[in-house]
Amino acid sequence: MSRRIYLDHNASTPVHPEVLAEMLPYFGERFGNPSSIHGFGREARAAVDAARDRIARFLGVRADEIVFTSGGTESDNFAIKGLAQARGGGHLITSRVEHHAVIRTCQWLESQGFAVTFLDVDEHGMVDPDDVKRAIRGDTIGISIMHANSEVGTIQPVAAIGAIARDHGVPFHVDAVQTFGKIPLDVQALGIDLLSFSGHKIYGPKGIAGLWIRKGTKLVAVQHGGEHERRRRAGTENVPGIVGLGKAVEVRAQEMAGEAVRLVALRDRLWDGIRARVPEVRLNGHSTARLPGTANICYRHVESESIVLGLDLKGIAVSAGSACTSGSIEPSYVLVAMGVPVDWAMGAVRHSLGRTTTAEDVDEVVEGVVPLVEKLRAARPAGVA
Ligand SMILES: Cc1ncc(COP(=O)(O)O)c(C=O)c1O
Repeated sequence: MSRRIYLDHNASTPVHPEVLAEMLPYFGERFGNPSSIHGFGREARAAVDAARDRIARFLGVRADEIVFTSGGTESDNFAIKGLAQARGGGHLITSRVEHHAVIRTCQWLESQGFAVTFLDVDEHGMVDPDDVKRAIRGDTIGISIMHANSEVGTIQPVAAIGAIARDHGVPFHVDAVQTFGKIPLDVQALGIDLLSFSGHKIYGPKGIAGLWIRKGTKLVAVQHGGEHERRRRAGTENVPGIVGLGKAVEVRAQEMAGEAVRLVALRDRLWDGIRARVPEVRLNGHSTARLPGTANICYRHVESESIVLGLDLKGIAVSAGSACTSGSIEPSYVLVAMGVPVDWAMGAVRHSLGRTTTAEDVDEVVEGVVPLVEKLRAARPAGVA
């Protein structure tokens, strides 16, 4: 197969070879159920405990505050429904640019009688902490704001929001699926009470994630059954996944700082290369408060999907910033919330770089994009926006 370039790391990442090596025995000879009291079970339990300890050390929290889940989606559901159901009613605050795992969970809670405020964002996709403060009511039971947006990479002012949440005694959930293991994250300094993180965004396996729950935060379990995870999440633990997540975190602890610097340079090289050669482009998201490897670019008068498919033919993987629902192409809700005009938003493409991305890859993507956008614009029927 010819060389392929993967610039879709915000969607998922390849499992790191050291992570895979550490997981493999747990599919084979170390297959025990951690709840079993015999040697096979104890071996599995020890592996789960070791991974939990590693993650706790990385986050600077207690190991017994971490619950393993099946994904960032479950962690978000658990945090928000768990908070809501522990109170039985009340008001939640979130934003319009959250992942669907948060937005749709909040919408469902609305349908169950809870009140929800969906905060607007500015043109960079940023929530204003003063808006959070203004939205707090006497019956506010939780605030859920993501750390960084998966589409445009904007990093939210989480410390300021955390301080407000703390002042008002409101539990603060942060979906850190796109930042955990990528940028520094100090849950104590940021005033966070609940943190969602996921394995497959950080070179760990899919289907494994976690929710950190500050001790004392009242949360009701959403999945019932056995006594697993201190009765907070029933179900036999995904032992190979947990081992992989633990190892992925250990590798990130070593690689994260150096990689962030490298990715900022590569991300800027990509944007500089494209804007120098393609007219009518714009970079979405915050210019500096942004994930190191994320460049979301609008190519005006071109449809995102045409670029994604055109680049795919050249062996380059990027993702569309718009969603195809029931056959009609809609602009991304994140870009709409940021006020990006529709004729720009329809041409949004997310390029997300990762640990194996090189300057050569970036230059090749620029070389691929320039003629493709020219061709697509030339083929556009007259009068079409
Ligand atoms: C910000 C954010 N939250 C939650 C999720 C869902 O995570 P998972 O794929 O592990 O369910 C994602 C995945 O794209 C994400 O980017």
